[in-house]
Amino acid sequence: MSFLTEIQRRRTFGIVSHPDAGKTTLTEKLLLFGGAIQEAGAVKSNKIKKTATSDWMEIERQRGISVATSVMAFEYNSHKINILDTPGHQDFAEDTFRTLTAVDSVIIVIDAAKGVEPQTKKLMQVCRMRKTPVIVFINKMDRPAQDPFDLLDEIEKQLEIRVMPLSWPINNGAYFKGVYNIYSEKLVLFNANEKLSDNNSIEFTDINDPELEEYIGADAKQLREDMDLLRGVYSKFDRQPYLDAKIAPAFFGSALNNFGVKELLDCFVDIAPSPLPVETQERQVVATEDKFTGFVFKIHANMDPNHRDRIAFVKVCSGIFQRNTNYLHVRHGKMMKFSSPTAFMASKKSIIDEAYPGDIVGLHDTGNFKIGDSLSEGELLHFKGLPSFSPELFQYIENADPMKSKQLAKGIEQLMDEGVAQLFTGMASNRKIIGTVGALQFEVIQYRLLHEYGASCRYEGIKLYKTVWITSNNKAKLKEFIERKYQQMAFDKEGRNVFLADTPYSLQIAQEKFPELNFYFTSEF
Ligand code: G4P
Repeated sequence: MSFLTEIQRRRTFGIVSHPDAGKTTLTEKLLLFGGAIQEAGAVKSNKIKKTATSDWMEIERQRGISVATSVMAFEYNSHKINILDTPGHQDFAEDTFRTLTAVDSVIIVIDAAKGVEPQTKKLMQVCRMRKTPVIVFINKMDRPAQDPFDLLDEIEKQLEIRVMPLSWPINNGAYFKGVYNIYSEKLVLFNANEKLSDNNSIEFTDINDPELEEYIGADAKQLREDMDLLRGVYSKFDRQPYLDAKIAPAFFGSALNNFGVKELLDCFVDIAPSPLPVETQERQVVATEDKFTGFVFKIHANMDPNHRDRIAFVKVCSGIFQRNTNYLHVRHGKMMKFSSPTAFMASKKSIIDEAYPGDIVGLHDTGNFKIGDSLSEGELLHFKGLPSFSPELFQYIENADPMKSKQLAKGIEQLMDEGVAQLFTGMASNRKIIGTVGALQFEVIQYRLLHEYGASCRYEGIKLYKTVWITSNNKAKLKEFIERKYQQMAFDKEGRNVFLADTPYSLQIAQEKFPELNFYFTSEF
């Protein structure tokens, strides 16, 4: 197969949802279609969220298992599909945001009864920021659902994207009859617990045909009315606005019943983008360039004390990654080669000789990598789009064992490189502040510092609302701001100026009083 064909046939995407909307179930059904797994129940990683939140050791144990399902690759209709798994537990939302930097498109799963939920909104913000093409799958139509027009309306308003239905539900809950697939002009009849081999779709280009009643009875009238309305509102589907992230095609179905999943997958491979160009600080990298480039978007540490290795996940952005070949680790300025890069085929990990743009390669790491690191054949490239978001929870971290301060410093540094949390150092106090998205990370850090680095720490509360990155072209004003707010100023890990706003009000006042300053809510600007 030619290099170009290899690129064009790749689809690297993530499935995201608010917990319980059906992400795991949908992932599993897609894997079944791809033949990557043989039976339901094989994808367990997202069951993490079901664990009591205090039981984080269990969560970490399951996270260990989830390394194998971090990337699920399979072949479908001559396409190579890479699904990047995202943690279901919201305390690991930051991991999810970072994983979204490595995907070329996203499927958002929405519960048809609950509509848009808070986590869906946050995830969509990240997609919007990155202009990631999005397909919406409205799940659980076998249960009583909201009116489909209301749902689409809500999705448009809450997710701030125009939605275009490519399938349309016929009733819902106990009366759910199936969907009319607008994209392929087929009527697809619902059958609970559908088998993969079942084919319930019927060619139906003209829904005014009286034959429709034979299949769906009195619901035919409603479907015709709905379709009339839809035709008035939506023009024919055009792929470009979807690729430009201006329109999100939507499908209705029931993942649990395997219904609507094949339609989704068939349309997905048809319209979803192959590896997109990636921005670096220096230039745009295009997948078809012959030289290999890639970046680390995730680091997974093994918590087993007998195997303290880490795996760095690299997204191949251009060229062909090859085993045992020297590549430049740009940040360290040194050449490295990898003898056992791994690929992930569902639950199996295997050593690979080469990988193409869109693929994810797992590299064994002894502490050389941090999130955002670039690899290349020699060019000095720094990939963009791996921002840190302002954390939501903050604590001072203090050394609880003065004999182990070196170990503590090293431990904190490495855990921050992995992206477990963010570190800020107060300008005035020189005290270290850990910021996280979820409460669990504080326990994780404390435990790992002790067990992996032999260092003890304790936390002390701090009341903070947000960390805000500050820049300005007006040096004098920046200096004035820092001096005035000195007690509330800190450096992030890269030494950039960060304002520690204690309340929304103090942030607003600061913004009003210093219009010459730029206030950023993510670390990339
Ligand atoms: P998540 O990864 O987004 O968190 O959701 P997950 O797939 O785990 O699904 C959450 C619950 O919703 C599961 O039930 C799952 O069986 C159910 N579910 C998923 N899709 C559908 C659907 O199309 N229709 C209906 N009726 N239910 C659906 P659970 O009882 O919480 O878990 P389990 O014991 O079945 O695994």
